[in-house]
Amino acid sequence: MPDPTTDGPDGLPQPAKWWQSGVIYQVYPRSFQDSDGDGVGDLTGIRRRLPHLVELGVDALWISPIFPSPMADFGYDVADYTGIHPLFGTLADFDALVAEAKALNLKVLLDLVPNHTSIAHPWFQEARSGRASPRRDWYIWRDPAADGGPPNNWRSEFGGSAWAYDPDSQQYYYHAFLAEQPDLNWRNPQVAAAIHEAMRFWLRRGVDGFRVDVIWHLLKDQDFRDNPPNPDWREGSNPYFQLQPLHTTDLEEVHGVIAGLRRVVDAFPERLLIGEIYLPVERLGAYYGAHLDGAHLPFNFALLEAPWEARALADLIARYEAALPPGAWPNWVLGNHDRPRVASRLGAEQARVAAMLLLTLRGTPTLYYGDEIGMTTVPIPPDRIQDPYEKNVPGLGLGRDGVRTPMPWDGSPNGGFTDATPWLPLDANFPENNLMQHRGAPASLYTLYQTLLRLRRAHPALAVGRYQPVGVAGDLLLYVRAHAGERFLVALNLGGAPAVATFAPGADGRILLSTFCDRVDEPVTGALALRGAEGVVVRLEPEAAWPRLAALGAAAPA
Ligand code: GLC
Ligand code: MG
Repeated sequence: MPDPTTDGPDGLPQPAKWWQSGVIYQVYPRSFQDSDGDGVGDLTGIRRRLPHLVELGVDALWISPIFPSPMADFGYDVADYTGIHPLFGTLADFDALVAEAKALNLKVLLDLVPNHTSIAHPWFQEARSGRASPRRDWYIWRDPAADGGPPNNWRSEFGGSAWAYDPDSQQYYYHAFLAEQPDLNWRNPQVAAAIHEAMRFWLRRGVDGFRVDVIWHLLKDQDFRDNPPNPDWREGSNPYFQLQPLHTTDLEEVHGVIAGLRRVVDAFPERLLIGEIYLPVERLGAYYGAHLDGAHLPFNFALLEAPWEARALADLIARYEAALPPGAWPNWVLGNHDRPRVASRLGAEQARVAAMLLLTLRGTPTLYYGDEIGMTTVPIPPDRIQDPYEKNVPGLGLGRDGVRTPMPWDGSPNGGFTDATPWLPLDANFPENNLMQHRGAPASLYTLYQTLLRLRRAHPALAVGRYQPVGVAGDLLLYVRAHAGERFLVALNLGGAPAVATFAPGADGRILLSTFCDRVDEPVTGALALRGAEGVVVRLEPEAAWPRLAALGAAAPA
């Protein structure tokens, strides 16, 4: 296999980093595998299931927060940055997990939540003890407005004002999320130093990097100006967006803070910094840093919301590629613990096409646990709702419990996830849809994921190769990945009807994989017929002409 290389900042090939050619798999620890019979997943459970990640064919796991926490936001309210919540195990369990992952050649990424702590964090306890506390300024305190109300109009992402009143000191503190999640003051260098030290604690333990929670939130306007109204907001949509979060997110100065995080990571070899950012792709470029000294991978969530339509996707990919600074490496995400499951958004058929898209686009893919077996967004009965977001802003479909349900490993009680009552219900269909049903089935979604991941490994062009759009024909989206003499044509039918793409003569090749897991080795000469919701990867012959669509608009096969 040729050495995978990518284009470096100078345009010359350089060896690809593990996180450029590799694939990341997100584990939501509460729902992966319970090992101690309390109905909640844990570290020993994850360790036991590492062979699944190897069998699937991914390279790294990112584990959502496992730190001590009152769990107001299920671990995104951290009470100790360098400990493990007893629910998940101990530091020894964590070390055992990392050791086992290393032995299996898997990288381990942790979730870093530096924007806010829990109210239970000793830093906040101290800060709240009085205006004279030496830690007071570690958080963001303001006097009430003249009428005694909040200091300005800033809103919490989780509903209502972002200011909580502290009667003892008669000041408000700022919280971008729950009142139980006070924001740290990143303008205070002591805060940066403390978080940097926590990062080093994990990096020294062998962690391969961090996914940084809400990185675009880290700094807020120093003058505390009101956010302007959003003229596009409509009744019935997320109330947070009634205002444009201009003065609370995406500040220019945040890139200095991110460069600081990056320096910590860069002091250790081969480590990775990912940033969570919900912004249009045009804004993502800045998060790589002016000198590529920001996040290695500012998460690109565009596929979570993109209209599932060939022209729109082609435009999105082009906009994203164009927005990348020279030398920046792209990435794509299809699902996470905050957004509806891809199989529910697109349906089972197009979820297969989406898998092929994710794993053949240029850029590091991130998979969300369970998407490899088509887990859907599970309806949660009102009496089992856990998510504080749903409780605070009910009825708008914003709740996230449905995408955090336990992984169904097999058809045994509770899908093999736990012996106890699971903290969230499993999808009722788990007896038919579980990993055991998918494993070894020649055309299962899981088999498709495995095959795509194997092909990426075997053919660096699919992982790190250049991306070249070929065009759009009706519902067909076509592009080429090319590297070191190998070229692959990817053709995806985003519609339900059969379609044919016709090429100018000479673009000959053979089908390497169909999303239906058949047609292997079928020759392609001049035309490519696809079934409804079919995607294919075609290996072009070395001498083949560049695939040029002969006619725009795909004809139905005769
Ligand atoms: C991020 C997390 C989300 C959490 C929020 C507050 O968006 O992904 O789950 O609720 O930050 O920490
Ligand atoms: Mg447990």
